[in-house]
Amino acid sequence: MEKETAIKAENIVKKFGSRTVLNGIDLEIYKGETFVIMGGSGCGKSTLLRHLIGAIRPDSGKVYLLGKDIVDLPEDEMDKVRKRIGMSFQGSALFDSMTVGENVSLSLREHTKLEESVINIVVKMKLELVGLRGFEDLMPSQLSGGMKKRVGLARAIAMDPEIVFYDEPTAGLDPIVAGVIDKLILDLSKKLSITSVVVTHDMGSVFRIADRIAMLYEGRVIEVGTKDEMQHSKNQLVQQFIAGSPDGPIKFFQQKDDYLEQLTK
Ligand SMILES: Nc1ncnc2c1ncn2[C@@H]1O[C@H](COP(=O)(O)OP(=O)(O)OP(=O)(O)O)[C@@H](O)[C@H]1O
Ligand SMILES: [Mg+2]
Repeated sequence: MEKETAIKAENIVKKFGSRTVLNGIDLEIYKGETFVIMGGSGCGKSTLLRHLIGAIRPDSGKVYLLGKDIVDLPEDEMDKVRKRIGMSFQGSALFDSMTVGENVSLSLREHTKLEESVINIVVKMKLELVGLRGFEDLMPSQLSGGMKKRVGLARAIAMDPEIVFYDEPTAGLDPIVAGVIDKLILDLSKKLSITSVVVTHDMGSVFRIADRIAMLYEGRVIEVGTKDEMQHSKNQLVQQFIAGSPDGPIKFFQQKDDYLEQLTK
């Protein structure tokens, strides 16, 4: 069957000051797949994700999201595209002064004219989907880290998105809770036919959920493949990252001067 494209990035370049964080990113993500973007801390994964959802613009290059060229899209058109995607942020990003239910309902209130009673039903359904039935009146401070992440997922799927973006959904969770979140991501993809784009450096998670994986290194996608292809990759960088080995071509900064030099490169 011919694969349909959900997202395409062409030669994205992004600099912060004199530092080039993304240096010519090319990516194609297909509808319905779970696509993982992995790479070391600070390599630009969150920055890439923010480009893919149109939260920031590249210095040059193109991003196509659900068939639209979003780099120069007028704001009202972009709003329409935004309604079709969901985002689960690094560190869940819940509003602490709002209840769980209010957090989940935010985009429904902002983007739809649904009546309060309908919004409440949708919120209940979404919480049920992430295994938090009846939690709507609790405050985020009453929840564990894993539960907060699940509320973040419920919020991300509130508008029945076609694509959900996840930034480090399992970071900081114990292995069992991480496994629960991974299963949830897979379930949501299957039950709701969602395209999932997951940024992570949790290798356990990568191999549980990915249909395909892209590895980011020094601002570029150095390899894309299935789990099997990545595991058998001849690329030493990929091998070192998967093995989590301190020895190999990926260098770690030992000295402050080396680190600062890299930052100004
Ligand atoms: N708005 C910004 N202004 C200046 N520098 C930025 C900005 N956003 C990101 N950076 C820099 O870009 C680099 C990549 O950051 P990013 O957050 O994308 O990395 P990451 O791969 O998501 O890291 P982590 O795994 O730790 O979440 C970092 O050096 C960061 O300091
Ligand atoms: Mg990040």
